[in-house]
Amino acid sequence: MGRQSPATEIARLRGELAEHNRRYYLLDAPVVSDADYDRLLRRLEELEAEHPDLVTADSPTQRPGAPALEAFGRSTHLLPMLSLANAFDGEELEEFLQRTEKGLGAPPKAWVVEPKLDGVAVNLLYEDGELVRAATRGDGTSGEDITANARTIRSIPLKLPGSATKTPTRCEIRGEIIIGKQDFFALNASREEEGLPVFANPRNSAAGSLRQLDSAITAARPLDFFAHGLGACEPAVFKTHSAFLKEVGRWGFKVAPLVGAVKTAEDVHRAYQAMAEARDGLDLDIDGMVVKVDGFDERERLGQVSRSPRWAVAYKFKPRQAETVINKIVASVGRLGTITPVAELEPVRVGGVTVSNASLHNMDEIKRKDLRVGDTVVIERAGDVIPYVVASIAEKRKGRPPKFKMPTSCPSCGANVVRLEGEVAYRCSGRSCPAQLKETVRHFASKTAMDIDGLGEKLVAVLVDNGLVHNFADLYRLDAETLIGVERMGAKSAANLVAAIDASRTRPLSRLIGALGIRHVGETVARSLARRFRSLAALAEAEAEELTAMDGIGPELAASIRAFFADRGNRTLLADLAAAGVAPSADSVASTGGAVDGKTFVLTGTLSIPRNRAKDLIAAAGGTVSSSISKKTDYLVAGEAAGSKLKKAAELAVEVIDEAALMALLQTSGA
Ligand code: IVH
Repeated sequence: MGRQSPATEIARLRGELAEHNRRYYLLDAPVVSDADYDRLLRRLEELEAEHPDLVTADSPTQRPGAPALEAFGRSTHLLPMLSLANAFDGEELEEFLQRTEKGLGAPPKAWVVEPKLDGVAVNLLYEDGELVRAATRGDGTSGEDITANARTIRSIPLKLPGSATKTPTRCEIRGEIIIGKQDFFALNASREEEGLPVFANPRNSAAGSLRQLDSAITAARPLDFFAHGLGACEPAVFKTHSAFLKEVGRWGFKVAPLVGAVKTAEDVHRAYQAMAEARDGLDLDIDGMVVKVDGFDERERLGQVSRSPRWAVAYKFKPRQAETVINKIVASVGRLGTITPVAELEPVRVGGVTVSNASLHNMDEIKRKDLRVGDTVVIERAGDVIPYVVASIAEKRKGRPPKFKMPTSCPSCGANVVRLEGEVAYRCSGRSCPAQLKETVRHFASKTAMDIDGLGEKLVAVLVDNGLVHNFADLYRLDAETLIGVERMGAKSAANLVAAIDASRTRPLSRLIGALGIRHVGETVARSLARRFRSLAALAEAEAEELTAMDGIGPELAASIRAFFADRGNRTLLADLAAAGVAPSADSVASTGGAVDGKTFVLTGTLSIPRNRAKDLIAAAGGTVSSSISKKTDYLVAGEAAGSKLKKAAELAVEVIDEAALMALLQTSGA
């Protein structure tokens, strides 16, 4: 990166870090490893230390990275959530230990060592033993209010056991929401099957699962919570961190494995070695060790510097990196025509796993890292899972290999490749691209869509390549005789497949809607569309306003649905499906026909039954519950001590009912 003035380099680093923050926190789709990110941040810190006049309040060095998603309300923590300073090697760890001992004038009474969990930090507020709010760390002062989603996590106690002496009246329990490795692999496997993008690592899958506007989706994800710290606590019932951890264990919280109190600096170094060795055997993704001073009085004396306490440090494990060569860069075409560059690598072992390809994400990434075929590159398995290409080693480049160019025509069908305005991705514009078609048909037949048993990826490819299937409707015209002619298919399997295809003709409408592969329409949206429109014909005629009037459907989604049904080719396809005898059945929830069916509710104040119970009852009767009140709300259900929402309801002329009236409505719905 040639010579740059410090001001230019600082500006560049800030820009890059801001973009990485956005990708990491908002999109849950990072394109650099944590170690890469740390290197950039460190370089920026160095430059700012040399040029204090160039430090600005909004520099990424001055505040933790997470911008808030607007869709969630904000919640301010009673005490700020600090971040941890890093030690990058054993020497820096030793410096931290000595600095702390010096600060205290003596070694602390104990150190606590803990694994650094790679998840999403959250703050849980308990009042009189009840969970009243959950929020992400956000910028440290306030984060996103994720109470509804946190309530779905089984390892977050909704109520603390009452032990009058110990349970504080108000306390903030901090910890990490994570997805275990096994659960993560299973989740990705099922997403792959559904044709959904897979998560890069357990942390991203946890963050993505938590950031759902529909708590039902969060509830279906295998999220777990581990407590690792105390925020505000009234009255102050704990004197040490280890006492706190012990007590919260009794309250029903999980505490990470390998947590322990030790006496000497030497013990701390040893604990690090032990943790690094135990790492692979754990079901949790851990990326380092955290060392904390145990005593709260000692912590108080040490204080903090900028946004990190002086009483704790994070010592991250060395990234698992390896060098290998890029043999080829291929353009791979997905279901919706997105073309992703993928590096085919000389197979290499990294941290016990053989890696032979890595997604290069998009052209911007390839340019930024200047990656070319034949380059020797450093790859890294960050967060234990999907490998990144960290960098190309310039000194090892032989000759002047050409830059990778995105093909101008689709490698599968030859149609033009286009880049839509404002998108990083390139797409195949082909209307009958075999690669897209295969992905589309595979999605159509998948378990969560039309569930056609036996029609997997390989068979779909054979059917498409042999010209037997040009669209979904063709599936329903296949007969055993034709199939027997196809590679390796015996009479029995041919008959089974025909039967499986036949059985899919009457799948519920929501599955058919989901199977069509309309952009942005996943299972949940498909279900609400089925519930609202009851037939494909009615959905096809839906106006944008009718769609956006539904909960959870915004203008972009509505436009995507409209565009799908406006397309001539798609209309023909739907007619073909009908002609081929595809006649979806009604969804079981679609026909309650009661007073609650299709209505949107907002709950406020305290109800006599738990809110989740009320939500379940409403959902079972075909209604939806939304967290904020708008013109689309049909009823505001006001419990005891209802607040500002009442005013809002009056302004928007939304009908306000009490709990008894809700129960009466539910009754007419047969719930
Ligand atoms: S203690 C000042 N303990 O690391 C104390 N944090 O940079 C800060 N983390 O946002 C938190 N494992 O998400 C603590 N055992 C652990 C941790 C841990 C992971 C995360 C946490 C926090 C970040 C701090």
